[in-house]
Amino acid sequence: MKEEIKKILKASFDENKLKYDDITISESNRPDLCDYQCNDLFKISKQNNKNIEDLAHDIIENLNKNDKYTYYFKNIEFARPGFLNITIGNEFINDNIRKMIDDDKLCVEAPTKKERFVIDFGGANVAKPLHVGHMRTVVVGEAIRRIIEFKGHNIISDVHLGDYGLQIGEVIYGAIKENKKIEDIDIEYLDYIYPKMSEIVKGDEEIKEKCAQITKELQEGNEEYKSYWKKIMEVSIKEIKKSYDFLGAHFNYWYGESDAYKYLDEVEEILNSKNLLKVSENALVVDLKEEKDNKEMPPLIFKKSNGAYLYESTEIGTILQRKKDFNPDHILYVVDNRQSLHFERCFRASEKAGILNEDHLEFLGYGTVNGEDGKPYKTRDGKTPKLTALFNNVKEIFISKKESNKNMSEKDLDIIVNSILKFADLQNNRAKDYIFDINKFADVVGKTGPYILYTYLRMSKIIESKNIVASLSNNIYNDYDRNLRNKLLKAKNAIDKAFETRMPSYIAEYVYDLCVLANTFYENNHINSLEDKENSNDWLIIVKLTNKVIKTMLDLLAIDLPSAM
Ligand code: ARG
Repeated sequence: MKEEIKKILKASFDENKLKYDDITISESNRPDLCDYQCNDLFKISKQNNKNIEDLAHDIIENLNKNDKYTYYFKNIEFARPGFLNITIGNEFINDNIRKMIDDDKLCVEAPTKKERFVIDFGGANVAKPLHVGHMRTVVVGEAIRRIIEFKGHNIISDVHLGDYGLQIGEVIYGAIKENKKIEDIDIEYLDYIYPKMSEIVKGDEEIKEKCAQITKELQEGNEEYKSYWKKIMEVSIKEIKKSYDFLGAHFNYWYGESDAYKYLDEVEEILNSKNLLKVSENALVVDLKEEKDNKEMPPLIFKKSNGAYLYESTEIGTILQRKKDFNPDHILYVVDNRQSLHFERCFRASEKAGILNEDHLEFLGYGTVNGEDGKPYKTRDGKTPKLTALFNNVKEIFISKKESNKNMSEKDLDIIVNSILKFADLQNNRAKDYIFDINKFADVVGKTGPYILYTYLRMSKIIESKNIVASLSNNIYNDYDRNLRNKLLKAKNAIDKAFETRMPSYIAEYVYDLCVLANTFYENNHINSLEDKENSNDWLIIVKLTNKVIKTMLDLLAIDLPSAM
């Protein structure tokens, strides 16, 4: 709407032969006075050497006497010191509401050029149990994936498992030491052996070195280690999939670091051909330092002196693989903020090597999930909870809130757990840490997932089994009604903003505000007892559209709807 209002105001300024650079329209923060505001009168009055009141008077007169403007503006007022308060026309609002009713995209415009995106999220490390810290990449990543798809671009998701790191060597070492038969390795065993080995390795350099050696030999094709690795992969990925499925994440590819190895010779050739590889203490390194750097930027170790590759090497190999397979316009990485330097370095190396330039590579970092003490989230006993245990814990707390919650189906409960976890996360700017307070986020009141779901179900009840005629009149009946309609028309802005900034929080914020307005509307207007048929039908249409918008927004956040609450 803002853009349209701007266009129309400009047209009228042009008619008045007014000079202006650009004008900005903002949403009114006094919806009781007007819908939108223009704050540029000061500037324009200076530019035209005109007294501000005269200027406002001329603008308003021109807008009022012309039929083509009165459709858009119901009322325009000058407000001291330099504002135009704009109330938009009922017919203008309702025409746009009608467009939204007919459009599953909620009037979000398709991109002028359809682009190809790759999104890298999930990134679980095989053999390690998933814990709370692994949740955000999935929650944020899946939302961004859906938003980009909704906007009308091509998007390919790749989980990029950590499947070739030291943890694998540790587990193989432990299994061999304990004479564990390959076929007997199961998830219980992994959950036992990985933490155990990781403790041992912390205090024993020699064993750590042995594990690193196993990892390296595995990477070079050692058959025995490979058969352990295959089994570990099978067992671990099955478990990872369960959690990702529970969270509704969708991956087109289940590639991992190991899949980058076949590209590393070619990366080496490319680096050589550009004279970027240097030998330093028998390792092959790439200088990354640039003049603009105001922090340490040590060289990237492409190949260690013993011939092993590192996380940075496979990262670049993966960029090459994606370029060859998908030729993407953008690769997005939804990864913990603490890896920002890793990506800065790898993106720089990729650009230097001419594989993909940095402007095609986006690091979308996220903050930490903290407990109420502001430190990384832990259970009461001070442990970092496994993800599956957290899901159960959230479920129990939700059930304990209300007697009737005990009778809900497992399916509905899983949906609610998802809404609690995801809405707690996605309402925050993804780059920031947030405090996860299960008790608060499991409530049906407040800025929570259950509140949104409850609102949807409440609205559904109103329209259920009602006979709604398709034609919406041009009336708007009161301010509750007007505010709700105005908010509905902003759905597309929320989606566009979330797309442009890669911040699902714009959608979470929007859908929460919409629910608050929908509830206020409902509580102040007694739809069910209306005598006026036209009014009643109009409001049912508005409630129905409200639910369509809520549902679409929730879907973008990967939150489903329960059958009842
Ligand atoms: N496995 C990595 C970790 O747990 C995350 C992978 C992120 N993606 C990537 N392309 N590096 O830290």
